[in-house]
Amino acid sequence: MKISVIGCGYLGAVHAASMAKLGHEVIGIDTDTARVAALNNGQAPFFEPGLPELLHEGLSSKKLSFSSTISDVQTAEVHFVCVGTPQKPGEYAADVQYVDAAFTALFPYMQAGSVAVGKSTVPVGTASRIAQLMVTQAPNSHLIWNPEFLREGHAVSDTLTPDRLVYGLSDELSAVPAAAKLDEVYAAALSAGTPRLQVNYATAELVKSAANSFLATKISFINAMAEVCEASGADVTALADAIGMDDRIGRKFLNAGIGFGGGCLPKDIRAFMARAGELGADQALTFLREVDAINMRRRSKVVERTRELCGGSLIGKRITVLGATFKPNSDDVRDSPALSIAAQLQLQGATVTVTDPQGLANARVRFPELKYEQDAMMACRNADAVLLLTEWPEFIALDPLAIGEIVASKTILDGRNALEPKKWTQHNWDYYALGRS
Ligand code: UDX
Repeated sequence: MKISVIGCGYLGAVHAASMAKLGHEVIGIDTDTARVAALNNGQAPFFEPGLPELLHEGLSSKKLSFSSTISDVQTAEVHFVCVGTPQKPGEYAADVQYVDAAFTALFPYMQAGSVAVGKSTVPVGTASRIAQLMVTQAPNSHLIWNPEFLREGHAVSDTLTPDRLVYGLSDELSAVPAAAKLDEVYAAALSAGTPRLQVNYATAELVKSAANSFLATKISFINAMAEVCEASGADVTALADAIGMDDRIGRKFLNAGIGFGGGCLPKDIRAFMARAGELGADQALTFLREVDAINMRRRSKVVERTRELCGGSLIGKRITVLGATFKPNSDDVRDSPALSIAAQLQLQGATVTVTDPQGLANARVRFPELKYEQDAMMACRNADAVLLLTEWPEFIALDPLAIGEIVASKTILDGRNALEPKKWTQHNWDYYALGRS
């Protein structure tokens, strides 16, 4: 199948490379010519395990190529739109201008019978609006809304072996051959038994918003429990283990700590609230305001806790922050709780050194005033407190004995409840965690 992928950011680059891996002939389109040149040289624009290998394989077999010229898509039968929908500055709503621009650019090059597939996370109602535009601008073509659920750090396997496929379809007769075309694209996953749900446009769009809202709510729920645990002397990790054993609840996404960040969950719950407001259903999602507030409170809580650990003032204190990215196995620092805490500590008078296996280049651009050190041991030298804020395996494996010899004070705050407390206390560290006495 000849496929085009419009937008080669996180979602699009992984999708293009994965579709080539499945044997399709793929052209990836992006307006950023530097990004296109890098991709054509096999360089992934971000750190994602497995992506460089897929790019290399696709480019060598000539099944994969990238271009900035939209007319290059015209021989493709299926066009995936994978552009971003960032939060509008100063508003909760998502900015859909890139989605609109991508479809508008694509329409003139769609052949009769070809299929446009929207993968971007959009406010409910967007697909119907785009389908309306297609009636005149790309007649005899069809639109399917096919949300993706990939997680950074697992993006390749999530794309090659998704846990479900959701097709948002119109109720027109042309939806049937269009869905059959998409089935051909996903033949490998479908033959492996991946469930495929056919729903209407609005449901497909909402599946994505609802899934991310549920995940965010689950994390904020356990972080709210962490607050109560702190006030009552209980242990939130034991609590999560115990409630997680109930199949109806499940242990996943119940890790209390400094909360969620990244390019998706924070902006998606806000965009969902904004859209519900436009639809007159804002009351239904007022709880998401609290989810957001609990999450942001985690960051200020860590700053306060660090101040206490430093004897009541951060001024002149040397703090080492282990972790810049919003989660491990990524170089993404968008809305990273770790980096946001580091910046707040620095603003309040501390000298903060941040270390991270992959995220320092991006972190430097966002917060140039922080100190950065690639080597975690070097970063800990003379620290008055060490904060674990992103649970990279490298940090969990750090040797408390060796670090204990180079820090100024053996004080560690585990912002992810990821360390083994005994491992640290047996070497005379003062170990502190969130939601645990
Ligand atoms: C998320 C969704 O999981 C994915 O399905 C969707 O397509 C995009 O958004 P991602 O942003 O890659 O994926 O990260 P995710 O693994 O969901 O983690 C989000 C944030 O929550 C991270 O900052 C992580 O550290 C935090 N988190 C996660 C917790 O604080 N506790 C947990 O128990 C789980």
